[in-house]
Amino acid sequence: MSKTIIITGANGGLGSAVVKRFLTSEDYHVIAVDHSKDRNSFAEGHARYEFHVVNVGDETETSTFIDAMISKHKKIDGALLLVGGFAMGNIDTTDGQAIKDQFHINFETAYYTARPLFNHMHQHGYGRIVLIGSKPALQPAAGKNVLAYAIAKSMLFKLAELLNESAKGTNVVCSVIAPSTIDTPTNRRDMPDADTSKWVKGEQIADLMEFICSDKGDPLRESVYKIYNNA
Ligand SMILES: NC(=O)c1ccc[n+]([C@@H]2O[C@H](COP(=O)([O-])OP(=O)(O)OC[C@H]3O[C@@H](n4cnc5c(N)ncnc54)[C@H](OP(=O)(O)O)[C@@H]3O)[C@@H](O)[C@H]2O)c1
Repeated sequence: MSKTIIITGANGGLGSAVVKRFLTSEDYHVIAVDHSKDRNSFAEGHARYEFHVVNVGDETETSTFIDAMISKHKKIDGALLLVGGFAMGNIDTTDGQAIKDQFHINFETAYYTARPLFNHMHQHGYGRIVLIGSKPALQPAAGKNVLAYAIAKSMLFKLAELLNESAKGTNVVCSVIAPSTIDTPTNRRDMPDADTSKWVKGEQIADLMEFICSDKGDPLRESVYKIYNNA
């Protein structure tokens, strides 16, 4: 039976690779979400694809949207919460506003989507929520110069632990994927001299997400995936 998957940040560098991956399999119906209009022209007209403009940084707007999707589809099986942002800055240059901004874009956007979906999945006894952490959230040497970003992303690991504790005994699992630098058009533009062979490809992360959401991923619990390639 086909699974219904919500993908936020669907227009992004990673988001478009993930949308593409899930549409290659007959097993999924994709609900793509971003805060500007659909930029995934490859998906236009696809029978198992729908796109919605939602600001997932707004709690009310997000929960209204999730309720509408639950009414429409009856069951949401997976949520790939890809919205996030990045900022440089060490302890000298990171003020309170910078902390709040990174908390908003990386944590609140995930929380506002995960919360109503977790409750829905818990009622059904099945669901996969995938959050995107990052290497600097796990490695202080990588995080000290991206302080606000590393702190905000690190909270997603704690959220996953707490959701998994709340879901014990069901087949609802929250996973965190922690990538190093992803090979996206934006990163190639911003770091023209970097050794891109060390980066992780969006397609590789998308394959991992598909495995998590597939029946093959059924026995996985409390999972953190470090996907660093050679970084
Ligand atoms: N790129 C990397 O090297 C890297 C490494 C480790 C982890 N990550 C994480 O991986 C995830 C995806 O990264 P990415 O490079 O694909 O980022 P991206 O290209 O910036 O994609 C994020 C998408 O989310 C959208 N968005 C932002 N705020 C939103 C909101 N409030 N509501 C709805 N949509 C919103 C963005 O739209 P706009 O662009 O129009 O704002 C964009 O389309 C992020 O969580 C990021 O932190 C990335």
